[in-house]
Amino acid sequence: MSETIEQLAEGFWRITGEVRIGGVVDIGTQCSLVRLASGNFVFLDSYTLPATVRQQVDPLTEGGEKIEAILNLHPFHTLHCEWMHSAYPDAALYGTARHIAKFPDLPWQDTRCEEVALHESYNEDFAFSVPRGVPLVCDDESVHFSSVLALHRASGTLHVDDTLVYLEKGFPLSMLPMTGRLDFHPTLAKALQQRADAADDFRQWAIDLGIDWAGTKRIAAAHNAVLELDEEAFPLLIGEALGRVKPVLDKHRAEFG
Ligand SMILES: [Fe+2]
Repeated sequence: MSETIEQLAEGFWRITGEVRIGGVVDIGTQCSLVRLASGNFVFLDSYTLPATVRQQVDPLTEGGEKIEAILNLHPFHTLHCEWMHSAYPDAALYGTARHIAKFPDLPWQDTRCEEVALHESYNEDFAFSVPRGVPLVCDDESVHFSSVLALHRASGTLHVDDTLVYLEKGFPLSMLPMTGRLDFHPTLAKALQQRADAADDFRQWAIDLGIDWAGTKRIAAAHNAVLELDEEAFPLLIGEALGRVKPVLDKHRAEFG
């Protein structure tokens, strides 16, 4: 996957990047640049922008001066936080509890990305959602299920890392059942909290997400593709994804119910 910037909608640009597992297989990553109603900009997530991408970001943002904040939304996507801050030191730096713990020397804002106070301060431009029934940061560091999902209201673009997965892969990976469809991240079973109501809480969160964000027009998913949606398709796709994890939720209920 190459490092590119693509305008997905009015006021919304997605930057695709590279992440190599074990230095070999590139699973891709993303960050997004969004123009606010005020005319200022924010980054959703961090990425070390190559010169070719920066050449496009700079004229949009008056050389970066109009970038007011960097919102790091996935607790385990941390590789590029330091670079992003060094490139845009005047942008207010926000992260989740894990970002702050991992880089205590960076000048983080007091409000964390998972907190309602942050969501309210950007309410004009974004809706945010944090999954229920799962912790935002799992003790098992290999479980990257949860994140803060962000819906850019003006363009109907949903920026999501890991929690929702949409893959488009060439042959032969295109033969796998999980390519070309929207699913929850495969670590759901490990992520669910070990309590009786966790499966029900997760299910209700997903249903609410489908209803509340029914107008979503496209989904930018970190690893690796953008899914353009038909009108009102989002609740159906969430319902189908929920149907496919029913065995996971049933098993959890049987174990902890
Ligand atoms: Fe990820």
